[in-house]
Amino acid sequence: MESVQAIKQRFGIIGNDPKLNRAVEKAIQVAPTDISVLVTGESGVGKESIPKIIHSLSHRKHGKYIAVNCGAIPEGTIDSELFGHEKGAFTGATQTRSGYFEVADGGTIFLDEVGELPLTTQVRLLRVLENGEFIKVGSSKVQKTDVRIVAATNVNMFEAIKKGKFREDLYYRLSTVEILLPPLRDRKDDIHLLFRKFASDFATKYKMPTIRLTDDAVVLLEKYHWSGNIRQLRNIAEQISVLEQNRTINAVTLHGYLPNIGSNLPAVISSDKQESDFANEREILYKVLFDMKSDLNDLKKLTMELMQSGNAQQVQKDNEGLIRKIYREDKEEEEIPFEEPINTTTEVLQIPPQSIIPQKEEDKYSFAEEIEEEETLSLHDKELELIKKSLERHRGKRKAAAEELGISERTLYRKIKQYDL
Ligand SMILES: Nc1ncnc2c1ncn2[C@@H]1O[C@H](COP(=O)(O)OP(=O)(O)OP(=O)(O)O)[C@@H](O)[C@H]1O
Ligand SMILES: [Mg+2]
Repeated sequence: MESVQAIKQRFGIIGNDPKLNRAVEKAIQVAPTDISVLVTGESGVGKESIPKIIHSLSHRKHGKYIAVNCGAIPEGTIDSELFGHEKGAFTGATQTRSGYFEVADGGTIFLDEVGELPLTTQVRLLRVLENGEFIKVGSSKVQKTDVRIVAATNVNMFEAIKKGKFREDLYYRLSTVEILLPPLRDRKDDIHLLFRKFASDFATKYKMPTIRLTDDAVVLLEKYHWSGNIRQLRNIAEQISVLEQNRTINAVTLHGYLPNIGSNLPAVISSDKQESDFANEREILYKVLFDMKSDLNDLKKLTMELMQSGNAQQVQKDNEGLIRKIYREDKEEEEIPFEEPINTTTEVLQIPPQSIIPQKEEDKYSFAEEIEEEETLSLHDKELELIKKSLERHRGKRKAAAEELGISERTLYRKIKQYDL
């Protein structure tokens, strides 16, 4: 049997912490069996290397290894991705398709973020785990497969079970053996080791001298909470490697790179202030959205009336108040020129929009496009900013952030991928 050290080297796993070694050792021990393994641990602790170790040390090593991120596949297609579908099973199913469980026959499937699986898919998964049977979507034919499952999660599965989001029987079936990867803050001796490794990698990558930490910076590094664990440590090593001219980094410089340090170490920013700022911003954003919706409804009403009556002048007179309301924020002090003669044609489409929308001469033509573009851009930016803030405040915990933002975890997950956060 290959030693823990040799395996760590082969898979690029840095660290000597006994809890990490125990996790690698467990992976080596279960590899030759077909036992289902559940890898647990916070985000960024390195869960993804465990299923690779297990597969490559198992008798399935010449078979397929398929990693599936259950959180990233839309709920509507996940059954078809995993189990395949028959031609005509749903709109767009023009061909019969094999799912991962069929393709990986004789190999290993890594179900990452398994806590995100919809309940209906959990039922299908339980069946495969129990007797190797599955049915393609839209088919009635039972098929057999021989797949080893390794799953991973960074959510508390007991909580998910309590909330009815995860089946208890499936949890026990998946976690015959559980391999827990410790958070970085519980591997203090490994933190500086990992940092030095990343600093050296980035120095090579960016062709710059390697950054080095002073003693006080090392103390700060080891005290920090590292809620994003090794992924976060690596990002910070990369930022400093690229941005700092002086290649010797002291605690003050390092401090500037550590987010949310106030909640882990002596306060720098009052967390109350952050909280109320965030709430205010959200309120403003909601208000903007509600106002936009109300304006849109008013505009719809006006358009309908114009279309039905065809008499623009009459409609304009009847809706004086409404038109003022729509333009009140932007043109508060400007007088709306109702007395101006306007085109009284009955052909609605011939009415020049400028005759209803009061404008300065110079921005007459660009007005509509400008508003549209600016709003879209700022909404996009605001969304990104809100997501970032919420994730920071919840130290990367997507569940809490999603709850706060009022969106589903799945949506948040996709936004994180989309914005590459
Ligand atoms: N012991 C380690 N030595 C070196 N690099 C590591 C180690 N553990 C993790 N990493 C690196 O840290 C990053 C995060 O690891 P990984 O993607 O496996 O996290 P994860 O536990 O799957 O997190 P998540 O739950 O967010 O998916 C990867 O780039 C990985 O290569
Ligand atoms: Mg992962």
